[in-house]
Amino acid sequence: MTECDFDSTGNNIEQITGYEPRLIPDEGLSVRIRPINLNDSDAWIIFVNGLSPYSKFYRFHHIIKDVCAEDARPFCSIDYKNSFALIAELVKDSCFEIIAVGRYTRINESPNAEFAIVVDDDFQRRGIGVEIMKDLAKVAGKNGITTFEGYTLIENFEIINFLKKCGFDLRIIQRTGMRHISFSTDKMVGVRGFEPPTT
Ligand SMILES: CC(C)(COP(=O)(O)OP(=O)(O)OC[C@H]1O[C@@H](n2cnc3c(N)ncnc32)[C@H](O)[C@@H]1OP(=O)(O)O)[C@@H](O)C(=O)NCCC(=O)NCCS
Repeated sequence: MTECDFDSTGNNIEQITGYEPRLIPDEGLSVRIRPINLNDSDAWIIFVNGLSPYSKFYRFHHIIKDVCAEDARPFCSIDYKNSFALIAELVKDSCFEIIAVGRYTRINESPNAEFAIVVDDDFQRRGIGVEIMKDLAKVAGKNGITTFEGYTLIENFEIINFLKKCGFDLRIIQRTGMRHISFSTDKMVGVRGFEPPTT
């Protein structure tokens, strides 16, 4: 256990969330998934500022300037029920670095939540995103969230492939410049309402 397994008031986050941190098997790397907390603010800032403009744009849907401590607070301070975020951290010696974040936020008091995920450019296509997304859906289900939804940029086909690979049953509605994606937090393979490009 490290200090990041405890929140700022010393509570054990595993006990609060019921999520047991786990290692993702990856050749030669030690990558651990665990819930984020406020002690992760500095690492979160380094992670977001280090993303490529492309990944930042796909994640936040607009061009963002460097983030600061004030920006980190709402992203790292969550209630672990209506809002939840899992990070993948690369553990090296006794240091760690955030290399991915997946999160959901419940929409009002509904059983739906908005989801978002982003993986450090140097660690994409290694299966880390799938591991986070599947765990996030399980956690959400336990917290009474039955559906994930979100808008993605129309050109972001990667996210469709990615969510399919996770095994979700996607419902996709095209809007001007955007695509609305929703799926049950229970896994079921399939995609409805989506015409892939013919080229
Ligand atoms: C989309 C994203 C989260 C995927 O994370 P990842 O860790 O790279 O994904 P994985 O390695 O787990 O990929 C699993 C599958 O998703 C699909 N996939 C992932 N990235 C893809 C890409 N760039 N192009 C096409 N398919 C892709 C593939 O089917 C892949 O399986 P494969 O490698 O065996 O072919 C990551 O690319 C990312 O951070 N993108 C920028 C931010 C973003 O678009 N967020 C979504 C909006 S909130």
